[in-house]
Amino acid sequence: MTNSTPSLEKNSIPNNQDCFLDIQNLIVDYPTSDGNVRAVNNVSLSLQKGEVLGLVGESGCGKSTIGFSILGLLKDGIIRSGQIVFAGRDLVKMSEEDIQRLRGSDISMVFQASQNALNPLQKVSNHFIETLKAHNRWNDNSWDAIKNLLNRLEISESRLEDYPFQFSGGMQQRIVIALTFLLNPKLLIADEPTTALDVLVQARLLKLLKELIKEFNLTVIYITHDLGVVAEITHRVAIMYAGNIVEVGDTFTIFERPAHPYTQALISAIPNVKAESKKKMSFIPGRPPDLRNPPKGCCFADRCPFMISLCQENEPKSISLPSHTNIGHYVKCLKYDDKYSNRFE
Ligand SMILES: Nc1ncnc2c1ncn2[C@@H]1O[C@H](COP(=O)(O)OP(=O)(O)OP(=O)(O)O)[C@@H](O)[C@H]1O
Ligand SMILES: [Mg+2]
Repeated sequence: MTNSTPSLEKNSIPNNQDCFLDIQNLIVDYPTSDGNVRAVNNVSLSLQKGEVLGLVGESGCGKSTIGFSILGLLKDGIIRSGQIVFAGRDLVKMSEEDIQRLRGSDISMVFQASQNALNPLQKVSNHFIETLKAHNRWNDNSWDAIKNLLNRLEISESRLEDYPFQFSGGMQQRIVIALTFLLNPKLLIADEPTTALDVLVQARLLKLLKELIKEFNLTVIYITHDLGVVAEITHRVAIMYAGNIVEVGDTFTIFERPAHPYTQALISAIPNVKAESKKKMSFIPGRPPDLRNPPKGCCFADRCPFMISLCQENEPKSISLPSHTNIGHYVKCLKYDDKYSNRFE
């Protein structure tokens, strides 16, 4: 998907006011010998049931850290504050035992290149049997469910007795996805699940994923740096920069009317391979800030073409912009704050 302009259509947004996952003021640090890395800085985000939310941003901005925080899988990181409410319970406060029960069955994560998670010494069939048995879900209908899922993911059931190395990378990734869907999770965190694959395989898998998400009525956080994938599969997009969510809105609005200067730069950096476009591909000069020593004001100020001195002093708060959808459009930029907007010319 990376090399083409996304074919953007208005993915219909679930009209559902129920809050399914509610992240409030999440702060996550990685303490290191060189100092404290603030990977997630005061992030608030909520998802409705059946919604597919794209979490987008360049490498190191904190996307996976949010995913690991939800699943209680932060290895070296510490949740300093905030809450993550799922099905009425705060996951941050949950015991390891309780969260382990949710993992895999209620909340599942597909990792980037997660095909490496397949055990090379186990036949594919054993992966399915063990996954179901580990969650006490094995029953008389299990083989039918497994075969049905494999079929949906275009893997012949005759390959069940093969070993992972006998499959291509794309097929292995589809086996991992079948394993994930088998437990019928309610919330799926998909962390760059197609990135390691070539463009055509990626497009096919994305189509299958989109169909399965709809069929299983899954709520999904889709982590990616690929805006083409975002346009294809998400209802809503959250743009992350240096640990902060700087803009959230429905996918159509984010592509058509991006408000944050960082989002605008990301959108204009999408390569357009169509011959009629003579638009020069742009890039964003500079580098993200050192998360061991985050800037005082706006995290994007140093790279922002609209920056004024106020931006380096004042941390922008979330501003609600006019929106044609029920899910709204929010941006963190002083340009949109009535208190400061007249200072930008
Ligand atoms: N174990 C760790 N120890 C110290 N710092 C870490 C650790 N894991 C992640 N970080 C830092 O936290 C920040 C966020 O990392 P994270 O993996 O969440 O980013 P990401 O947006 O998922 O990046 P990518 O797109 O490359 O996967 C980065 O600056 C990273 O260097
Ligand atoms: Mg990551």
